[in-house]
Amino acid sequence: MSLRLGDPAPNFQAKTTAGDIDFYEYLGNNWGVLFSHPADFTPVCTTELGRTALLKEEFAKRNVKVLAVSVDPLDKHLGWVKDINETQNCSVDFPIIADENRTVANLYGMIHPNASETFTVRSLFIIGPDKKVKLTITYPASTGRNFNEVLRVIDSLQLTANYSVATPANWNSGEDVIVVPAVSTEDAIKKFSKGVKIVKPYLRYTPQPNID
Ligand code: BEZ
Repeated sequence: MSLRLGDPAPNFQAKTTAGDIDFYEYLGNNWGVLFSHPADFTPVCTTELGRTALLKEEFAKRNVKVLAVSVDPLDKHLGWVKDINETQNCSVDFPIIADENRTVANLYGMIHPNASETFTVRSLFIIGPDKKVKLTITYPASTGRNFNEVLRVIDSLQLTANYSVATPANWNSGEDVIVVPAVSTEDAIKKFSKGVKIVKPYLRYTPQPNID
């Protein structure tokens, strides 16, 4: 059975380009993004890992630790990282897991046998500080992920976790957010000092609480 939202994110130990790690120890109290790549020395993956490295400060600002997974061995990963740094003008310093035995790929259901028996699809898991799965996305090998979207959904998840708000369709940071249904309008007015706009009793907006 595949992992579902709210499930505990399985722990594992692994060899990576940044040394041996225990997943939970690596995450500490941070949020985590664990994402898989079909194989080393492939073009789409090269751009994805480069983009992730270039967004290092954005992930750090949000207290997010990233880890990539590929089922190739460590020496191959190390050679590939040189190419990624050269071609994407970046410095990959987050761990890339050498998952030759597919331990992580199997724990996280990253191999979809009807797509490929051997390679992982592009799975991405966002894990909260409580080590629970908060969000999953799955792309086919041929479609590179949008890492601005990954940051956007992290912002949404962190707003929900910290302020009891949800984010509407096409929301971007800085725009109004939605008061979650579990908060009464009376409580919302007390809680959100920037004001509450009531469109319907169930549709209430407030300015994004964590910005001035
Ligand atoms: C890639 O990672 O570049 C890739 C992998 C499989 C199919 C197409 C592209």
